Amino acid sequence: MDQLAHLSAGISILEITYVIASVLFIMGLKMLSHPLTARRGNILAAIGMVLAIIATILFHQKEGKPIGNIGLIIGAIAIGTIIGWLIARKVKMTAMPQLVSLFNGMGGAAAALISLMEFPHISNELIAKSGMANGQVLAILIGLMIGTVSWAGSMIAFGKLDGFIGDMRIKAMKYVNLSILAVLIGFIVFIMTRHVQASSELTPLIYIMFAVAVIYGVLFVMPIGGADMPVVISLLNSFTGVAAAMGGFLYNNQAMLTGGILVGSAGTILTILMCKAMNRSLLNVIVGVFGGGGQSNMAVTGSVKEISLTDAAVLLSYSKKVVIVPGYGLAVAQAQHICHELDRLLEEKGVEVKYAIHPVAGRMPGHMNVLLAEADVPYEQLIESDEINPDLPNTDVLIVIGANDVVNPAAEDDPSSPIYGMPIIKARDAKNIIVMKRGMGKGYAAIENMLFFNDKTRMLFGDAKGTLQNLVNEVKSL
Ligand code: TAP
Repeated sequence: MDQLAHLSAGISILEITYVIASVLFIMGLKMLSHPLTARRGNILAAIGMVLAIIATILFHQKEGKPIGNIGLIIGAIAIGTIIGWLIARKVKMTAMPQLVSLFNGMGGAAAALISLMEFPHISNELIAKSGMANGQVLAILIGLMIGTVSWAGSMIAFGKLDGFIGDMRIKAMKYVNLSILAVLIGFIVFIMTRHVQASSELTPLIYIMFAVAVIYGVLFVMPIGGADMPVVISLLNSFTGVAAAMGGFLYNNQAMLTGGILVGSAGTILTILMCKAMNRSLLNVIVGVFGGGGQSNMAVTGSVKEISLTDAAVLLSYSKKVVIVPGYGLAVAQAQHICHELDRLLEEKGVEVKYAIHPVAGRMPGHMNVLLAEADVPYEQLIESDEINPDLPNTDVLIVIGANDVVNPAAEDDPSSPIYGMPIIKARDAKNIIVMKRGMGKGYAAIENMLFFNDKTRMLFGDAKGTLQNLVNEVKSL
């Protein structure tokens, strides 16, 4: 086994496997960027992870000895795999963001545990040489801080997305959170400038730092509500990646390092894109304050007007340009296939149909793209909101299907609204608006939507799938 583990030129099978795993991670990530290749990309990255785990168990050595506790390790992997498999099979598509948040939190917790376990075992020779000011200590402390914040924050995000934790906003939250962040950085500087005999002398401090990081993780996610959760989830995701990369650095494990860096950088890019899409600043996300933070002050004016199925079918069939705005309700109703049938029917009648895609429509990044791709809606028909907005005044009918916050004009009109400043699909610019939803229920941000009271708006109440089916029948019978 020893000869097998060490090939010529000092390169070990372990290192080669880590390189192969890293390449599989990168290829998998690349393939995730398109719905058609995403499934295969996921499988490829999973194969990379399995390879890295098997190679580590078989070939990793510490101080010349193979790793021990193989039975315990395999037992833990088996239990984790069964639990993960059962949860992922059972979860409803609409509860996916909560699940992502929960799993992300587990990654952060694992990174924090590594730091807590490894800190007392930093080698005494290293400490004698450089005191606590060395790369290993820095990796442990950053892994602890970021991993813990990611775990605590993800648990709160999970609770908020699932609806059992509400918003909590204190006036001076920004300053409280900035101060806690400064304390955490202070811990790192303090520990790293100590000269001790053994790291175990400083272990109690590590546990206090862990507790402070938990408080920060909770406090920075607690006030975030309205429509801003996606930005936070994406930021927490990148935190977990950075914390895992610290573990890779600590163990000199290239696969863990590459995996962590990929998650960290992809998460950071997504966070920046989300911040742009939501018109929020990254600093405000990090200290947990953004959005108007209050309840809307706007009084409802106008009345809700309904449209009959026949009138809606006639209006649509004799239009030149129709824009569909899909939202969370379309996903809940699983109405994507019948929606595509409506758009094909209209196109057969010579109507130009486009979909307006808002970056945070639904409950996860790219939710609408994935949903519509599943129904084979051609990608060219999906237009991003800032690209389609200038064309809306020339649009004859805009159909809102199960969307609410992403078309809410309060984002432009009401500075006290929690969604104020978020770019929206400017639905009210269209010549006619038809809104399909079950009743007058509010959206994720739980605020009134004046679009429904607009003079140009007509409501088509009912479950999106049933309503669309009836509408398709009406259009066919014209
Ligand atoms: P929402 O604002 O959540 O509105 C969805 C609307 O769909 C509701 O008002 C509801 O009204 C209607 N609805 C629900 N079930 C329906 C059904 N079976 N048939 C027809 N209508 C139905 O959705 P949105 O406009 O897509 O906005 C997404 C929101 O979620 C944003 O605030 C966003 O920030 C937030 N969020 C997004 C993400 C990501 S990454 N996309 C993650 C977390 C949170 P009725 O009850 O009256 O039917």
